[in-house]
Amino acid sequence: MINAFAIMEKGGKLQEFQYDPGPLRNTEVEIGVEYCGICHSDISMIDNDWGRSQYPLVPGHEVIGRITLVGASVTTLVAGDMVGLGWHSDYCMICSTCMSGDHNLCSSARPTIVERHGGFADKVRASAASVVKLPDGIDGSSAGPLFCAGITVFNPLIQFDIQSTHKVAVIGIGGLGHLALKFLNAWGCEVTAFTSNKSKKQEALDMGASQTIDSNNPDEIMSHANAFDLIISTADVKLDWSGYLSTLRPKGRLHFVGIPLQPVEIGVISLLRGQKSVSASPVGSPATIAKMLDFAAFDRIKPIVEEYPVSQINDAVERLRSGAARYRVVISMNKAS
Ligand SMILES: NC(=O)c1ccc[n+]([C@@H]2O[C@H](COP(=O)([O-])OP(=O)(O)OC[C@H]3O[C@@H](n4cnc5c(N)ncnc54)[C@H](OP(=O)(O)O)[C@@H]3O)[C@@H](O)[C@H]2O)c1
Ligand SMILES: [Zn+2]
Ligand SMILES: [Zn+2]
Repeated sequence: MINAFAIMEKGGKLQEFQYDPGPLRNTEVEIGVEYCGICHSDISMIDNDWGRSQYPLVPGHEVIGRITLVGASVTTLVAGDMVGLGWHSDYCMICSTCMSGDHNLCSSARPTIVERHGGFADKVRASAASVVKLPDGIDGSSAGPLFCAGITVFNPLIQFDIQSTHKVAVIGIGGLGHLALKFLNAWGCEVTAFTSNKSKKQEALDMGASQTIDSNNPDEIMSHANAFDLIISTADVKLDWSGYLSTLRPKGRLHFVGIPLQPVEIGVISLLRGQKSVSASPVGSPATIAKMLDFAAFDRIKPIVEEYPVSQINDAVERLRSGAARYRVVISMNKAS
C-alpha cells in the first residue's frame, strides 16, 4: 500500500489516505518520496479550477526521492538512483510529437495528479521515461521545484532560442518567477522583474533582475514601451495584457506559463504593428529537464525554499495560498516535525 495525503472534496484539507497501486508495470518505476514542492497548480487542482480534478486527489508533482522498484523493461534507472518527477508521469512514446522529442506536448501525456496519485505520499509511480536522474551538484532538498516551476520557465529559453543579447522580463516573482530570474541572469540576459509586491523588490534584484516594475501600475508599465524581446508571465491573475504588449519590441513575444482563468483579450492591431506574438507552453520534455538540471548544477542555481515537515502539510499548502512564501514551499516527507 502507498501512504499518501489526499483531498477528499473541492477545496478541502489533506487527510491521510492509503491506496493500492497494483502490480508495477514493466515500463514504470516506484520512487520513495523524500521531498515534494507545492506548485500553484496543486492549489488549482485542489480547488478544481480547471474542472479536471477527481477526489480523492493526491497532489504533489515536484517530487525528489530514490528509486525503490524498477519495472522489468526499464534499462535507464536502477534502485537507489536519486531522481525527480514533475507534472507528467507518462507519455505515449510513439506519436510523432513524442518521436520528435516534444513529449510534454503529447496529447496522451498523463499529468502526475490527474487520474493518478501524486507525490504527497511515501511512494509514487511513474513511467521511467518521465523520471530524470539528479546530476551531481544538485541538492535534493531544494531540487523539487526545478521539476515543475524550473522547467516551465527554462523551456521558453530553449523553444525561442533566447540569446544573451535579448532583453527579457518576468511577470510575477513566485515559485516560477524567482527561478526565471535566476535562469535568465545566468543565461546572460538583462532581466526585468514585474512584481506586485514591494517587499520582493530587493530580493528580485539580488536574484539577478536589473530593475523591478510594479506589475499593477499602468503608468509605470507604459513608461517602458518598446523595451523587451520576451516577457514570460507567471501570474495566475488577469493583468493589463495590452499594456504589457506595448512594452515589447518589434517581433517581441508575450509568453504565458502562468494560467489566469479569464480569457486573454488582445487587439489584433496591437500585435500587427510590431509583428508581435502571444504564446503559452506546458512544462518541458524530459530531455529539456535534463538539460536544465545540468545548467542549474553548473551555474549553481538553486530554488529558494521554505521546508515544512510532513506533519504540517496543510500549513504548507496554506502558506503557498497566502502568497507569502519565499519562494517555494517544499515538504520533507521523512521529517515528522
Ligand atoms: N505552464 C505550465 O506548465 C505551468 C507549470 C507550473 C505552474 N503553472 C502555473 O503558473 C502560475 C504560477 O505558479 P507558481 O507556482 O509560480 O505560483 P506562485 O508561487 O503563487 O506565484 C504566482 C505569482 O503571481 C503573482 N501574482 C499573484 N497575484 C497577483 C496579482 N493580483 N497581481 C499581480 N501579480 C500577482 C505574484 O507575484 P508578485 O508577488 O511578484 O506580484 C505571485 O508570486 C499558476 O497559474 C500555475 O498554475 C503553469
Ligand atoms: Zn506545477
Ligand atoms: Zn506521444
